[in-house]
Amino acid sequence: MNLTLHVWRQKSGAKEGRMERYDAKDVSGDMSFLEMLDVVSEGLIAAGQEPIAFDYDCREGICGTCGVMINGLAHGPVRGTTCCQLHMRSFQDGDHITVEPWRAASFPVVKDLVVDRGAFDRIIQSGGYVGVNTGGAPDGNTLPIPQSAQEAAMDAAACIGCGACVAACKNASAMLFVSAKVAHLAMLPQGQPEAKARARHMVAQHDAEGFGSCTNYFECEAACPKEISVKHIAILNHEYAKAMLAGVE
Ligand code: SF4
Ligand code: FES
Repeated sequence: MNLTLHVWRQKSGAKEGRMERYDAKDVSGDMSFLEMLDVVSEGLIAAGQEPIAFDYDCREGICGTCGVMINGLAHGPVRGTTCCQLHMRSFQDGDHITVEPWRAASFPVVKDLVVDRGAFDRIIQSGGYVGVNTGGAPDGNTLPIPQSAQEAAMDAAACIGCGACVAACKNASAMLFVSAKVAHLAMLPQGQPEAKARARHMVAQHDAEGFGSCTNYFECEAACPKEISVKHIAILNHEYAKAMLAGVE
């Protein structure tokens, strides 16, 4: 199929950006969206122009590094799919496709489609880990964790930190991301000693990074490639309320 791309090009965060038009010819439906961008970039290099800068690592939907707005949708039109796993068969011959970086003040553009998601790293550093000594690895059968708690924790742990929830939210809120990390650890015994401090500190860092508040639009859940449920935000609010009542600073 032949497509027309409208791609955001920006040399650096300090420079102004603009949409540029490119033809993508003979695109196979079996290509991923990133492979299609590779082919277009190879054409640009052959023509002596700068290739399109975009982020990726695993290309298997597990690292969370990729992520662009495709026709205004975070990760594109297929629900529960990262853009590295999005296949070009989801588009029609002759389509015009706009490709832009995540749009959020807390994710400043580095170049073209690449944004700085260091804010997520700083939120994790503020409490998204288990810091207590849990000793050596015990036999799995001796861990008193109900199957339902394991399953629920794994559902929350599926978050890959891609930032699509922020890009999709009109408030640029990262509450779905924070809630997935807080809920994941709060559901397991190893995470419970620090649960209150974790909720308090991660929310404080979220706010300090300039992300907005959640006002229940649920765009985050719709855009999330791992289909993280907004019910985790309710769990986060519960953990946060417990921390406030306990006077955790
Ligand atoms: S909650 Fe979903 S959209 Fe947000 S960072 Fe995690 S995986 Fe990405
Ligand atoms: S490149 Fe790893 S999730 Fe897309």
